[in-house]
Amino acid sequence: MIPSKLILAPMDGVIDAPMRRVLTSSCRYDYCESEFVRVSGQCVTSSRLLSMVPELRCGGVTAAGTPVYVQILGQEPEICAASAELACRLGAPGIDLNFGCPARQVNKSGGGAALLKDPDLMHGICCRVRDVVPAGIPLTAKMRLGWDSSDRCLELAEQIWSAGVDALCVHGRTREDGYATGTVRWDLIARIREACPVPVIANGDVFDRASAMECSRITGCDSLMLARGAVSLPNLADVIRLDAEPFSYRRMVEAVVAFTEAFREYSPDRDPFPRVKQFLSYLRGYYNAMVSLNIFRRVCACGSLAEALSLLQSSTAEADQLEPEA
Ligand SMILES: Cc1cc2nc3c(=O)[nH]c(=O)nc-3n(C[C@H](O)[C@H](O)[C@H](O)COP(=O)(O)O)c2cc1C
Repeated sequence: MIPSKLILAPMDGVIDAPMRRVLTSSCRYDYCESEFVRVSGQCVTSSRLLSMVPELRCGGVTAAGTPVYVQILGQEPEICAASAELACRLGAPGIDLNFGCPARQVNKSGGGAALLKDPDLMHGICCRVRDVVPAGIPLTAKMRLGWDSSDRCLELAEQIWSAGVDALCVHGRTREDGYATGTVRWDLIARIREACPVPVIANGDVFDRASAMECSRITGCDSLMLARGAVSLPNLADVIRLDAEPFSYRRMVEAVVAFTEAFREYSPDRDPFPRVKQFLSYLRGYYNAMVSLNIFRRVCACGSLAEALSLLQSSTAEADQLEPEA
């Protein structure tokens, strides 16, 4: 089964505004999400929202026109609600609630996946946020299967959907699973989908067309959310939906250059080089030529970004010789 709806996942420190611009220009996503906006103790400020989600200054969409939902991560219903309301006033085209973040610091203060241990509070957050998000703006939530066990995943999902969210995204792992390969439970996402009256979005370990079709078949979900795979292959959504050719090595290098330019535009005072290396470390997962040409190691050894970009651009000729279709 080919999924009809593909969503670009939130990834803190990885899929920020410049990366959203590059990935949503490389292929078509139905919408994407901001990195989590942590709210604790007090409502988020407009300036913080606008700096984390600069697309709010341009109608809440990326340059390609892809809507950017704002993801809120908090543990106090009133503060989450006030923050969501402000995001809507600033033009957010959708709001998502984070019930999956495994970061120790966040969990210690009761946020993210820690809320899976307190289903009543999680329900309370969803209800309070539902009260303030206008009916025309979708409210979604993203959960893991549980804290250290998936035994109560159906009950947790019900606490969310019964509060009136418009869709529920399920990352098929517990908090304890982290991001470990082989731990994702598409079968449990299927059970949640069967019980849930609103659309369920399946997430976890979709890296190519075959895994997308398999995930869709097992979960029965028509909507998938793509995270690490989307960064490893910049046109993954089109590869899945349209059976498009994966970006060639040359197109991939163009995407890295486009990311550098977008990063400079959004953060003129910051050095893009560490983020370029991070992008390459994801791309290395897909591009064999990168491994055989030792590009990642050679780029890391470069003294400057200019040198790294010139090396990358010159490597396209080498890659063409190695693997014309790579
Ligand atoms: C570095 C990193 C940062 C992430 N940040 C967020 C986040 O801000 N909000 C969120 O809901 N999920 C976050 N996630 C989880 C992803 O959205 C996704 O649920 C997870 O990676 C599983 O999908 P995948 O197997 O397709 O990567 C993050 C994951 C990673 C690896």
